Amino acid sequence: MSDATPEVAPGFTGFQGAIEAIALGFPARFEGAASEAALREEKAKLLGKKGDLTFALKAMGALPPAERKAAGEQVNGLKGAIEAAFEGRLRAIAGEALARELSGPAYDLTLPPRVASPRGHKHPIGIVRDEIVDIFRSLGFAVHDGPEVEREDYNFTKLGFPPDHPATDMQDSFWTTSGHLLRTHTSNVQVRAMLGKVPPFAFVAPGTVYRRDNEDATHLPQFNQLEAFLVDRRVSFSHLRGVLAEFAERLYGPGTTIRLRPSYFPFVEPGAEVDVRCVFCKGSGCSTCKGTGFIEILGCGMIHPVVFENCGIDPQAWTGFALGMGLERIALLRYGIEDIRLLVENDPRFLSQFR
Ligand code: PHE
Repeated sequence: MSDATPEVAPGFTGFQGAIEAIALGFPARFEGAASEAALREEKAKLLGKKGDLTFALKAMGALPPAERKAAGEQVNGLKGAIEAAFEGRLRAIAGEALARELSGPAYDLTLPPRVASPRGHKHPIGIVRDEIVDIFRSLGFAVHDGPEVEREDYNFTKLGFPPDHPATDMQDSFWTTSGHLLRTHTSNVQVRAMLGKVPPFAFVAPGTVYRRDNEDATHLPQFNQLEAFLVDRRVSFSHLRGVLAEFAERLYGPGTTIRLRPSYFPFVEPGAEVDVRCVFCKGSGCSTCKGTGFIEILGCGMIHPVVFENCGIDPQAWTGFALGMGLERIALLRYGIEDIRLLVENDPRFLSQFR
């Protein structure tokens, strides 16, 4: 090996020549780099894997062993000088950029933006909710709010659900470790409105409710309801019927007919489900109403005397009614939306249609 003639590139003048060429050349190369990117490129050409200094380092192997130590120190010294020069030039370039920015035209922060930011708009559930709340407000109902994390007795027991009612099952509700649950309906607001207070009451309570349902085209584990509640002296079923008829006409237009079917909810007696004449086929029968001509929109009934007693209200002195509807259902029917999941996916292509 020591006798072998080292292979050198054409025009290569040996180790010393290469080192001197680099040492003489690098300051001007760095000075000539006008941007940080150009500077880094020059550095790579010197110190990178295929850089000039790396190449010279390889040529060092051809030197007689006695000269190698001094040569190594020379290379290290040069490398240090290159790195220091690089840092210096880097700072200079940053300084030049700042100076340019400071001496350039000033920003006018009072100018209006060139592109107006897009206006937000209501979600379809919000549109439907606000419209229904407005209808009830115009009929004299106030608006109440209630907690989504609720006590078991306010969501179930005081409303007359027997302890073994399937709705109270662990499978149907979301329970917290503290024994509370996510309310399964807005009827909890009835209990909260009555406890420790004296009728008359007339309010609506819109809000989010939760049930352990697997999501599909018609179910979500989290959805929205709106409850209406009215208690006064001598309130009768015909008052309920009148409010329902007025509500249906305001929501779906004059002449909209409704139909009541007996139904069961633990906290009302009698209870009913309310259908409206199908808004799509006007009653002649279509796929939405499954040929029946009617679509179910809510549940309702007269407040059960036991609920009054559970909430400290005298059922001899007061009567009242409640009704509750699913806002998603109303929105799906209103806009002809076929999959309830569209309402929670927040796809702007879907939502922008409600602008
Ligand atoms: N809370 C009932 C439900 O979620 C709806 C309802 C409200 C029924 C008021 C009657 C009266 O199914």
